[in-house]
Amino acid sequence: MTTAATKGLEGIIAGDTQICSVEQGALIYRGYEIHDLADHATFEEVAHLLLVGHKPDAKELRFFKDELIANRALPTQVIDYLHGAGPMLKEGTAVPMDVLRTGVSILGNLDKDSQDNSPGANLRKAKRLTAKIPTIIGHMQTIIDGKGLIAPNTGGDANLCHAANLLYLMTGAKPNAEYTKVLDVSLILYAEHDYNASTFASRVISATLSDMHGAVTGAIAALKGPLHGGANEAAMDMLSEIRRDIGPVNDRAKIEAWMHKAFADKRKLMGFGHRVYKNGDHRAPILHGLGRRVAEQRGPEFVGLFELGERVQQIMNDEKNIKPNVDFPCGMAYFTMGIPVPQYTPIFVASRITGWAAHIMEQHANNRLIRPIASYTGPALREWNG
Ligand code: SDX
Repeated sequence: MTTAATKGLEGIIAGDTQICSVEQGALIYRGYEIHDLADHATFEEVAHLLLVGHKPDAKELRFFKDELIANRALPTQVIDYLHGAGPMLKEGTAVPMDVLRTGVSILGNLDKDSQDNSPGANLRKAKRLTAKIPTIIGHMQTIIDGKGLIAPNTGGDANLCHAANLLYLMTGAKPNAEYTKVLDVSLILYAEHDYNASTFASRVISATLSDMHGAVTGAIAALKGPLHGGANEAAMDMLSEIRRDIGPVNDRAKIEAWMHKAFADKRKLMGFGHRVYKNGDHRAPILHGLGRRVAEQRGPEFVGLFELGERVQQIMNDEKNIKPNVDFPCGMAYFTMGIPVPQYTPIFVASRITGWAAHIMEQHANNRLIRPIASYTGPALREWNG
């Protein structure tokens, strides 16, 4: 009789990886610690580290950036789909994560390397997806806003970095240095996190020797869930619900009453807790600090949002010993920057595509089918005509 692993495979080592280490003590991408990367690297450098496997020198970085810029524009078939998805988004039968998932799938149908899992083809596809996913998000947002697409022929402005170009494609306005920095660091923080649910899903799919676009499509579906990447949207929705319930002033008694009702209702508070981190998510304070700085520039309404979030954090910590994960400050920071809530998790995808692709390439390079077993707890053997 086999004994079942802990529910949700908690604490089970399901394989090894050279890409990332997620520990209570540190988060490390290929040997570099996350605070070091957040302080000193750009997202393009981190993307190169994850996809190519090493920190780029100046020449390699220039070439890598030029490759991404050259691949930003979308094929007409994807643009046509995005226009067709407008009514589905308005109707609410599709949300941006679903439309992004389908857009990636169509990119796979059009990619000349789609059926080739060789290291060279996989790296080419990874770069093309890293370049094009922000364009899908940007064009989708202008369609939702009922505006024309921004620079559809080029996929944006070649003079803008990856993060700035994403904001430009979404709004048509060139972002300031502060907003670009916050988004760029958030993309670094979101890029990779070892065998999280969506990455593990991409490895299970790749391990059948299925292709990169299929594995990424599955990973997007996994990331959408509010227990995973969807938590950044759900966390902001929760804070908006608290704001609606308590009014514009952060009255401590009203906040406490709201939290105690949530505890009594056994609500999962979005943006809190983590399967691995039990003493706090290394990424959360980094993004909280950056987002709060933008809030202080934007004014009292946004500072008030961060102060509400800090009070919620304090109560969760004091009464439940549960800390915020990266999604909690992300929601507040993106809201303060005016990013529409339904695009928060798609932006997570624009970053995590680099981690997923790195794991897909690692899996294809040294593969064995991933197939655990189950402990059967169904009815005992019986006769169909018995
Ligand atoms: C991400 O894995 C990764 O690395 C993911 C990620 C990445 O970069 O890829 O870090 C990104 O997905 C972060 C997590 C985002 N999700 C959320 O914020 C959703 C809310 N969080 C919870 O649903 C929960 O904390 C999980 C799902 C994240 C982790 O849950 P576990 O490990 O399965 O823990 P659990 O649900 O069994 O909780 C243990 C206890 C329970 O209490 P009891 O039932 O035992 O009394 O803690 C409680 C839970 O009720 N608890 C919470 C809570 N999280 C845990 N109670 C209220 N609110 C919460 N958020």
